[in-house]
Amino acid sequence: MGDFFRGRRLRRSKGLRDIVRETVLLREDLVQPYFVLETEDKDLEIPIGSMPGQHQLSLPKLLKRVGAAVDKGLRSVILFGIPEKKDPEGTGAYAPDGIIQEAVGELKNRFPELMVITDVCLCEYTSHGHCGLIREQYVQNDPTLELLARTAVSHARAGADMVAPSDMMDGRVKAVRRALDEAGHVALPIMSYAVKYASSFYGPFREAAQSSPQFGDRKSYQMDSANSLEGLREARADKSEGADILMVKPAMPYLDVLRRLKDNIDLPLAAYQVSGEYSMIKAAAMQGWLDEKQVVLESLTGIKRAGAGLILSYFSEQVLDWI
Ligand code: PBG
Repeated sequence: MGDFFRGRRLRRSKGLRDIVRETVLLREDLVQPYFVLETEDKDLEIPIGSMPGQHQLSLPKLLKRVGAAVDKGLRSVILFGIPEKKDPEGTGAYAPDGIIQEAVGELKNRFPELMVITDVCLCEYTSHGHCGLIREQYVQNDPTLELLARTAVSHARAGADMVAPSDMMDGRVKAVRRALDEAGHVALPIMSYAVKYASSFYGPFREAAQSSPQFGDRKSYQMDSANSLEGLREARADKSEGADILMVKPAMPYLDVLRRLKDNIDLPLAAYQVSGEYSMIKAAAMQGWLDEKQVVLESLTGIKRAGAGLILSYFSEQVLDWI
């Protein structure tokens, strides 16, 4: 009987539950993603229809919004840029005066303590919406590496604290590491989107970043959702190429993959609760079908319990009011 009742004895009061709680969500676990618009209009703030509460922000608006979040205790952000013009080579991604390069500089200037992470990819900057260069309707892996490396170095020069390649080209972590080292940024860490599935949960993000592929899909470079062993292989490859933190994305449908990595790889892990996961919870909450605060805290605690040291979530700003 002693064993049978042990669990219940420890659940009897809030004090006891607090003492035996295994996972506690902290501010420093959370990263808030932002979409930054390249625009002359300083006051532009465009709501993203499929992501209530999220916006495309002009640089001054971004600084204001981040300022308010930092006052509430926000510790880190990840930035996505929306350039004024797109082209087949995605030149906006690595332009020295590109929107992300500018945003990083301003953010670090105003909030030196804030950890600024940049997403390194071409899809927001290419006219065809793919994550790499295209020839004869196919994404060209190797020629893309050089552009990704150039993008990462330009973010480092602007003052980024960490770069996060999300393109899923083979060999990009190595290419980015080498380029950063050569440019003197030997201490700048890489958080690799190592285990990134070809997911329909990215739908709202592609509206937000205006980055839907204009033809085909991303299944030749992103992973098949049916595969977990392949996730481990991708993670090992990125580790051997020099990644400092590995990410699993999306989060909630892939918690088993996150746990598998946690048990098999000795690197810190991150998980990205992506746009579709956010929209799902928001939509249900707006209907009054779910208790938003409780569901958000439960989902983020679950992601941490599964093995994530860092959680990228569009709920981060809101959560600061709750923990
Ligand atoms: C860029 C990128 C994507 C996301 C993060 N970086 C989109 C994609 O691969 O299509 C998705 C994030 C989200 O859905 O919130 N490659």
